[in-house]
Amino acid sequence: MIKKGIILAGGRGTRMSPLTKAVNKQLLPIYDKPLIFYPLSILMLANIKDILIIVNKGQLNQYKKILPNGKKLGIKISYLEQDKPRGLPDAFVIGEKFIDKKNVAMILGDNFFYAQNLSSKLIENTKLKKGAKIVLYKVPKPELYGVAKINKKNKILSIKEKPKKYFSDLAITGLYFFDNKVVNFAKKLKPSKRGEVEIVDLLNIYKSKNQLKADIIGRGGAWLDTGSIEDFYKTSAFVSAIENRQGFKIACLEEISLNKKWINKKQVLEAIKFYGKCDYSNYLKKLIT
Ligand code: G1P
Repeated sequence: MIKKGIILAGGRGTRMSPLTKAVNKQLLPIYDKPLIFYPLSILMLANIKDILIIVNKGQLNQYKKILPNGKKLGIKISYLEQDKPRGLPDAFVIGEKFIDKKNVAMILGDNFFYAQNLSSKLIENTKLKKGAKIVLYKVPKPELYGVAKINKKNKILSIKEKPKKYFSDLAITGLYFFDNKVVNFAKKLKPSKRGEVEIVDLLNIYKSKNQLKADIIGRGGAWLDTGSIEDFYKTSAFVSAIENRQGFKIACLEEISLNKKWINKKQVLEAIKFYGKCDYSNYLKKLIT
């Protein structure tokens, strides 16, 4: 069982400047909550309660105001700073002590997932004992992402980062599950031409050992990566449409914890006090009455 998870919330967010000049991208709103709530909710739905959030140097205080140490959510949140972006696998080097001898999941701070039966799918993936697992999603513009080619049995044939020439339309989403070897593999990686270590190189080490598996989110699900301002608005519109139509909130952290019995009604009341008079608090009130 994977019980530890990392959210990589670093990055300069340069494509979203000037919005990101003073505030980290993951703290900007996706409709009614900060973006960071969404990847955090994914780890929580996977029953992962021990979470490391890696943030840019100097931005720790911003995060602690909204997500102090996880206690209020019945989970444990710790933080580490990254002085400069060195590529996604750097998370496993920075997080070495946190990971310890355990297996670990990682989600990128700007990744949004929404799908039927997502919880059970996530929990299934945390059963990984050996190797690594990636989550794939069909997209019309695969050249923007890491891409995987698979056969009929979902066996991964090859993976490439942002391929210029088409070879598959299955994007590798920013949600990964790894065994403990990931720390040593990550340490051995050499930076690519753009000066950063690449997640695809790390995944290729597992693939060369025949230990890379794929899970696919089908057409009933949504994966959105909120890299640009346009994506932010599209994702916000998606969340708004679902929440207002169904009356359920997506990524309400207290609701997930309450359903999992990690917190009780009293702690939800404390959360309402913390957030103050707002739509989010009204929703929390409804949960406990
Ligand atoms: C990163 C990864 C890429 C992955 C994507 C998912 O790209 O390098 O393999 O498909 O995240 O969000 P970036 O968004 O940093 O360009």
